[in-house]
Amino acid sequence: MHEIPVITVDGPSGAGKGTISHMLADTLGWHFLDSGALYRVTGQACLMEGVSWDDHPAVTEVARHLDVSFSAAEDGEILVACKGIDVSREIRTEEGGRGASTVAAIPSVREALLQRQREFRRAPGLVADGRDMGTVVFPDAPLKFFLTASAGERARRRHKQLIAKGESVSLPRLLEDIEERDARDSSRKVSPLVPAEDAIVIDSTTTPIPDVFQQVMQRVKEKGLN
Ligand code: DC
Repeated sequence: MHEIPVITVDGPSGAGKGTISHMLADTLGWHFLDSGALYRVTGQACLMEGVSWDDHPAVTEVARHLDVSFSAAEDGEILVACKGIDVSREIRTEEGGRGASTVAAIPSVREALLQRQREFRRAPGLVADGRDMGTVVFPDAPLKFFLTASAGERARRRHKQLIAKGESVSLPRLLEDIEERDARDSSRKVSPLVPAEDAIVIDSTTTPIPDVFQQVMQRVKEKGLN
């Protein structure tokens, strides 16, 4: 068994993965991998370089040479830079999500980002947030979670977040986007969005985040990882 432990947190967007993974990494004092950000930056780098998301060989080259860096702002927010340019805001837009989901369906892009993701495994441990962390990237992780919630609830959460940021998007449009992205992420041939066989599945549709976190921490303690 690998000596550096990984806890994987997979699931569709809006299921609370990001929040739970950050809380977990903070509580344990472990490193954090936001794998979705790597796909989002790949999509953004394509826009910056004038590469179409449909040009698979060119997108793969962009992924292979991706110049991405993560840093923490004073308020603790994670800043993401591509070629030294802060793209934190751009990658979190709806278009950023569409680009990520589109380039993430290209097998050679996933292959290009595989090793880079594994390099985040550093002592004392790693919390890895994504779609295929437990199935493909860290299949040997000692503890795996799959967080899910109904599409309607995830759309409502996203709507609330966007309103708080001053963006106006209609709820039916968001639901349509979420269902479209779920379908694309779940039906792709490589690394589809499915729980690992040994993952603990938690449905957060009606469970508040603090309660989900309590359930997660319970499992972490049972495994002796805290
Ligand atoms: O977690 P996120 O919403 O930032 O991810 C953005 C997109 O990237 C999502 O539509 C699917 C894709 N993704 C992926 O295919 N594999 C991952 N490990 C993480 C994200």
